[in-house]
Amino acid sequence: MKNHFLCLSDWSASELDAIFTLTAELKEKQKQGIAHPLLAGKTLGMIFEKSSTRTRISFEVGMYQLGGHALFLSSQTTQIGRGEPIKDTARVMSRYVDGIMIRTYSQAGISELAEYSDVPVINALTDSYHPCQIMADLFTVLEHKGSYKDQVYCWIGDGNNMANSWINAAAVFGFELRIATPRGYEADAWIIERAQQRGAKLIFTNDPLEAAANADVLNTDVWASMGQEEEQAKREKDFVGFQLNSDVVAVANKDCLVLHCLPAHRGEEITDEVIEGEHSVVFDEAENRLHVQKAIMATLMAKG
Ligand code: CP
Ligand code: NVA
Repeated sequence: MKNHFLCLSDWSASELDAIFTLTAELKEKQKQGIAHPLLAGKTLGMIFEKSSTRTRISFEVGMYQLGGHALFLSSQTTQIGRGEPIKDTARVMSRYVDGIMIRTYSQAGISELAEYSDVPVINALTDSYHPCQIMADLFTVLEHKGSYKDQVYCWIGDGNNMANSWINAAAVFGFELRIATPRGYEADAWIIERAQQRGAKLIFTNDPLEAAANADVLNTDVWASMGQEEEQAKREKDFVGFQLNSDVVAVANKDCLVLHCLPAHRGEEITDEVIEGEHSVVFDEAENRLHVQKAIMATLMAKG
């Protein structure tokens, strides 16, 4: 068992499977109103250097449901925003809280935080990865399909933090992942190389229809991520044709699932018709952030 949840590649398939098993148990207990205070008396410090709706709410509610407490810490209203060193923040917070969740820019920063922290650190999105989201996505596929390892996954759009984490997941779990990006917007080369060295089945194309053909799960994300707002206009031009629309759904398997981590820009990376359509499971996916993150927190924080 690892001390931190920073990147899916740090974890084995069996360790992540154990998190899914616990997720299902905790979700069932929550639905039945059975108390499950696995983190009674424990506290999670949540550092946000970027905006959030789902992540903030699901972690905060999740800690409450586990019998613990969560603190929302904006970088703008803490000394983090005034440049207090990460290694000092890590050591100070470790004296107060039992776990740290952070949404920030640099993966190196999160690694430094974890290095100096005495308590578990959870990555709630960096420029490089979004591992909690992929866990919720895979759990959603598991619920709808009965299994997630034998599905063919298709990513259309930006080679961003979500795409990088999908590549990591493909390496850990061994499923086929097809990625259609515009030229110049590929996922990080070293992350692709690391995954391929682990035997990941990755297929790259610039044609969304080719990537989606007979796929089981279709997935996309915004064209400009947080921190790239000034590139929005250029990206709107560069990503023409990389939309998850009904033409793409039509070539996928007839019982395919459509995922989107949300927030979505309807009319850009996905159409209103598809996100509201019969294949879309985006709100189950959003709900599952809560259940899967409770399992991640319980796995990391219940002991000690
Ligand atoms: N999907 C996701 O992480 O959403 P938020 O940015 O609202 O937290
Ligand atoms: N790629 C998006 C994901 C938001 C949940 C971003 O980083 O802004």
